[in-house]
Amino acid sequence: MDKKFYITTPIFYPNANLHLGHAYVTTLCDVIARYHRLVGDKTYFLTGSDENAQTVIQGAIKAGEDIHAFRDRMVEGFAALFKRLDISYDQFIRTSDEQMHWPGAKRLWEKMAAAGDIYKKEYEGLYCVGHEAFITEKELVDGKCPDHGTVPERTKEENYFFRLSKYTAPIKSKIESDELEILPQSRKNEILALLDEGLQDVSFSRPKAKVPVGIPVPGDDSQVMYVWCDALSNYITALGYGRDDALYKEFWPADVHVIGKDILRFHAAIWPGMLLSAGVPLPKRLLVHGLIRSGGKKMSKTLGNVIDPQELLEEYGTDALRYYLARHISPFEDGDITREHFKEVYNADLANGLGNLASRIMQLAQMHLSEGTRPEAVGFPKEYTEPLEQFEVNKAVEYVWQCIAALDHKITETQPFKVVKENPEQGKKIILELTQELYIIGRMLNPFMPATNEAIKKAVVENKKPENLFPRKD
Ligand code: MSP
Repeated sequence: MDKKFYITTPIFYPNANLHLGHAYVTTLCDVIARYHRLVGDKTYFLTGSDENAQTVIQGAIKAGEDIHAFRDRMVEGFAALFKRLDISYDQFIRTSDEQMHWPGAKRLWEKMAAAGDIYKKEYEGLYCVGHEAFITEKELVDGKCPDHGTVPERTKEENYFFRLSKYTAPIKSKIESDELEILPQSRKNEILALLDEGLQDVSFSRPKAKVPVGIPVPGDDSQVMYVWCDALSNYITALGYGRDDALYKEFWPADVHVIGKDILRFHAAIWPGMLLSAGVPLPKRLLVHGLIRSGGKKMSKTLGNVIDPQELLEEYGTDALRYYLARHISPFEDGDITREHFKEVYNADLANGLGNLASRIMQLAQMHLSEGTRPEAVGFPKEYTEPLEQFEVNKAVEYVWQCIAALDHKITETQPFKVVKENPEQGKKIILELTQELYIIGRMLNPFMPATNEAIKKAVVENKKPENLFPRKD
């Protein structure tokens, strides 16, 4: 098949270690990317780090480290976490990379400038470092940003502005017609309501003195690009836009940018505006997920309900965490995770469910079959592919667990351990069928739980019992 599929995660600020919310969006993308590879699509999966931000500079200062050393150390941590999570990205783009990223970001800026959409203006505003954006007086609560609880910086600067207002109508029509599709519908409505109010021009640069690590504005070294202008362009610079067009020609426009709801505005207004201005095709889709909470509350250090992905990985393993995120967090709504629920689900679905089924079947196979089997690859049922095509990852996992329950039921019904004693040929036939169905289940698990897929495949092909896949936790 020659269908291509280009998927991206947001790029993460290397200002602190990644938490479960970041692990979630990356795992969600990985599941979708692996599914597309599984069905034969030519897939490209991009992730990376958003490094030229004030929040990152502040992180380095807080850690008492040189900014470059700090960013390198943080990004190494990201890569280690993604390795542990079995994230199969094709490229990790760093916006500090002057060879890979900067030429494309500059090219895009030049195109916008050539379109007459960049102009200089004296500007006074309130900059919230948490948002990496100017916010308005009326958004403040007690003088603070309500999302970050911090007092914004009051600045008076001469900046370059981007004429986003000019693009309100074309952006709206692209979103309304689903040429730029926004999933789920509730997020599409939200952005359409915003567009109804009309978009304002945005400050698109900062003085170099304030953000010394930023990308210099073409033609004016005293200014650097606004970090969201710099960051959004990663989706095309990583493919070689402005540098070497081969991947760009093959994969752009993106099939889907996966983002959290907190950064919808940047992706559904500013990014399409930039692309329209520069004459670059728009991405096809935004998949907007919710935020992960714990016990119904926002994860916060003060509440003591923060869950570190490393902790779950160490205790339960990679595939168990991937399973939880894929099945028990909806890709469209806010999710919730607690240690108690995690353990409950682990024991029920993985230790007693899948793990137990695999070991029962393979024990029978090892005892009664003389060799392993490698079933021919058959197509996938639509109950599996249809939700995955729509990014309804949790529904696809649910379907696989229905297959697991059905196979469990089949063992109870057919009683192979008895039959094989009374009628060995008949018994072996049943056992062979069970192993083949287990193999197919393993194959369907591939996007969610790649190592488990491998372990099941190996067990069936080599006719041996798999290691205890998911030991019970008490
Ligand atoms: N650097 C920007 C994105 C630039 S994309 C061109 C940024 N970085 S971030 O590190 O703060 O967040 C990255 C992603 O993590 C965002 O999509 C955000 O929605 C997501 N999450 C942050 N906290 C989250 C949860 N608690 N739950 C789920 N996702 C969360 O924003």
